[in-house]
Amino acid sequence: MNKEITNFIKDKLPIIPLFGLVLGSGLSSLIDDVKDQKTIPYDEIPNFLQTTVSGHVGEFIFGYIGKIPILCAKGRFHYYEGKTIDEVTSIIKIFKEIGTPNVIITNSAGCVNPQWEIGDIMLISGHLDFTFREKTPQIICGEPMYPQRNLNFVRNIADELNISLREGNYTWTLGPTYETPAEINKIRELGGHAVGMSTLPEIEKAHELGLNCWAFSNFTNMGAGMQNVTLTHGDVLEASTINKDNFKKLIQNIIERYKNEPTSVI
Ligand code: HPA
Repeated sequence: MNKEITNFIKDKLPIIPLFGLVLGSGLSSLIDDVKDQKTIPYDEIPNFLQTTVSGHVGEFIFGYIGKIPILCAKGRFHYYEGKTIDEVTSIIKIFKEIGTPNVIITNSAGCVNPQWEIGDIMLISGHLDFTFREKTPQIICGEPMYPQRNLNFVRNIADELNISLREGNYTWTLGPTYETPAEINKIRELGGHAVGMSTLPEIEKAHELGLNCWAFSNFTNMGAGMQNVTLTHGDVLEASTINKDNFKKLIQNIIERYKNEPTSVI
């Protein structure tokens, strides 16, 4: 990561954030309650990338959940925008370089499990790379990328708060078009539960850099062919807020309850 970019961001922060949060499409209400917000628009950061997708504004927001300093990325970069993997994962690299040890990655996704519903929240406990860039798709779950300790931590919080939480494998597709019904059938057959066009490169980068990472899908639609509707990005954005209060509560509790070393002043 370009030092000019990280130094610019660091200079704007009063303290090193303990959590980095990547907000998926339509999920900006997750940070409604963040206090003392300070915005750093991407277009003010020298030589940084710009977002192009509607629903992805393009700014970092620093603030506090309870007493915990966090840095949110509102607007992420996708492979289908013609960006490289290096660029797609730049937000995660920024978190690493400013010294933020924990990340929470969120996305809006299609639901591939017919028993689940639009509005459900899924804790990502495994993944399927359905991009066919390198290898044939195969489920990756469990340690070391999805540590039981982290999964249990979230399961217990959801239980205690009475939030119904799904759990399963996120499937990364290249996009930018939604899948065909045949692709959705194949994804289900291979063991995928959610489908989306982001997140996996970010999870992999966070893991590679030794960041502590949780990731969640928010189901905005059933996978193509599972319902008699045509998917549009507008509908995805509209449906993304159905379960927003529970999603917000869950994220806030993870951030406030996770025990960590105190963060230092920059
Ligand atoms: N497919 C891929 N990406 C998505 C979907 C979907 O059904 N819904 C939201 N993002």
